[in-house]
Amino acid sequence: MSIDTVLTRCLGLAHPIIQAPLAGGGDTPDLVAAVSNAGALGFIGAAYLTPEQIISTATAVRSRTTRPFGINLFAPLPPSDSSENPETMLARLAPYFAELGQPAPSLPKSPASSFDEQLAAALESGASSFSFTFGALPASAVQAIKARNMFLIGTATTVEEAITMEKSGVDAVVTQGSEAGGHRGSFGSDFASGMVGSISLVPQVVDAVGVPVIASGGIMDGRGVVAALALGASAVQMGTAFLTCHEAGVPDAYKEAILSAHEDQTRITRAFSGRPARGIVNRFMTEIELNHGDDVILPFPLQNSLTRPLRTAAAKQGRAEFLSLWSGQGVRLARRQSAADLVARLAKEIDATIATLQNCVTAARSVGSPMRLAREAKDHGGPQI
Ligand SMILES: Cc1cc2nc3c(=O)[nH]c(=O)nc-3n(C[C@H](O)[C@H](O)[C@H](O)COP(=O)(O)O)c2cc1C
Repeated sequence: MSIDTVLTRCLGLAHPIIQAPLAGGGDTPDLVAAVSNAGALGFIGAAYLTPEQIISTATAVRSRTTRPFGINLFAPLPPSDSSENPETMLARLAPYFAELGQPAPSLPKSPASSFDEQLAAALESGASSFSFTFGALPASAVQAIKARNMFLIGTATTVEEAITMEKSGVDAVVTQGSEAGGHRGSFGSDFASGMVGSISLVPQVVDAVGVPVIASGGIMDGRGVVAALALGASAVQMGTAFLTCHEAGVPDAYKEAILSAHEDQTRITRAFSGRPARGIVNRFMTEIELNHGDDVILPFPLQNSLTRPLRTAAAKQGRAEFLSLWSGQGVRLARRQSAADLVARLAKEIDATIATLQNCVTAARSVGSPMRLAREAKDHGGPQI
């Protein structure tokens, strides 16, 4: 059975499935292209890439697929408070750098590429969709993206944020439920208020906006996809499920951590990047934040830059206790497989879930409606169920 939604039609997809952009190396060209070749939409998370890297990554994807793929950036953030004193954090990080045989941590020397430079490269990338998170885009960026005929997708964690996105001119909204792995996209109010679970968030956003909705957060299998469609979403965006694919570029220790984690072992933390994000609890998270409080953690992206060398060294040494193990709450459903197998398996599970629901309807018709059964039970003095 093929699922036909407004988004499968607009985006030219065989399945209503988007591989979440996975900034930080998870979404290799092999992963993105394999997802697109399988009839879903692969995405490049380009937020940490230089303009040159954006072009070379997109070229690598294009050499592996002729199908559509997307590109994603972080919306530009207001400049962080320059009066922040990094000394306490530098001192707290130093023993961990020493433990991994790294020179003492220091402030980053070269500034990251500006949003405008990244956007210029993204516009040249050949991607057919552009998505973003962390806030709204400047009007000039929206215009430039639309002038390229790219399908524009913004991220929201509340109804108000979704309305802001729609007003800014996006073609679709990703709802990021509180179950989601990785950084929170919240921008409208404080992060805690934006922790709304998908089963509440999706239908309320669907009712509030006119553009199609893409559900994300904790969706790992065909049951989750069908549930999201039932709530009114026109597609889903899945991150954690793709991280354990063979093609994903995260260290094996990271994949192992996801594959052995339980649903109650992730937390929202600022310890790695300075911005709230969901990941599997590990030693670094516990010692930096949970044991000492988060008041000395520097704002994003400064904290992220400070901890990057530690995470890079930990990745090389297979030390999961120092990696930012971004992951959603659906971890028990993660599997090791190729991206093509994951997409094919999701398609089969979607069919099986719909068939199960149809069987329920058929069975209910043959025995009578639940309301009629309840009335009959009451008439006969039985419990009202
Ligand atoms: C490792 C990782 C990196 C992510 N990077 C990005 C990103 O660069 N841009 C973005 O919009 N979302 C990013 N996300 C969030 C996803 O878009 C999505 O909200 C999330 O993965 C959905 O939850 P799930 O992981 O339970 O599927 C990332 C998520 C993970 C796990």
